[in-house]
Amino acid sequence: MSNYYITMDLLENEVELVEKLCERIKAGEEKAKMRVLDVGCGTGKLSVYISKKTGCDVTGIDTEQRRIEKARKKSFGKVEFEVQSAEEMAFANDTFDAVVSLKALHEMANPKEVLEESNRVLKSDGGILLIDWVGGAAKTESHAHALKYFTPERLEGVLLDTGFVDVRVELNKEGELMLVEGRKNKKYRKTFKRRKNVQV
Ligand SMILES: C[S@@+](CC[C@H](N)C(=O)[O-])C[C@H]1O[C@@H](n2cnc3c(N)ncnc32)[C@H](O)[C@@H]1O
Repeated sequence: MSNYYITMDLLENEVELVEKLCERIKAGEEKAKMRVLDVGCGTGKLSVYISKKTGCDVTGIDTEQRRIEKARKKSFGKVEFEVQSAEEMAFANDTFDAVVSLKALHEMANPKEVLEESNRVLKSDGGILLIDWVGGAAKTESHAHALKYFTPERLEGVLLDTGFVDVRVELNKEGELMLVEGRKNKKYRKTFKRRKNVQV
């Protein structure tokens, strides 16, 4: 077994929803190889896992240079990693089939902008799949900061406001993590600032 397969270091509480996320990506796969973007990828564990499980072309972005460097080492060139802000991405419109994220949205300064940008870079039939902590109630010690996280209702509302439809939320067995998914609303139109650094 190569190191590429050994370094899939998901935590126990992440496995259930990450497996579901991979199944949903595979279910949407048609003939062409799908392109997946992992926002707030950190050292790349979700990106590498998806690449291995689905065979999709995965790109991970994070604002932390050191994390991106670690991610590059971990993926042995099989996944693209770039230092980019999820609030102002350098990708062209309609680039990805899916945008994913693991435990990162709550850390972003402006989640609404992140979701608008995610919508922009998704193809018209693309979708979003986010895993994050469930907020609103501090139930356990590991949940001590639960109030700072999104409640499922609030995250669903932000997705609807940023151009997603068919939004669904499901919790893991422990009820501490949620998988939120939605499809890009083809009718949603937002005018984005003109940027010099957007790839074409
Ligand atoms: C809790 S970590 C999760 C990392 C990774 N997804 C994981 O599960 O291991 C959150 C990550 O979001 C990144 N982050 C925060 N704000 C960001 C932004 N605006 N754009 C991209 N990444 C961001 C942080 O640098 C950090 O690596």
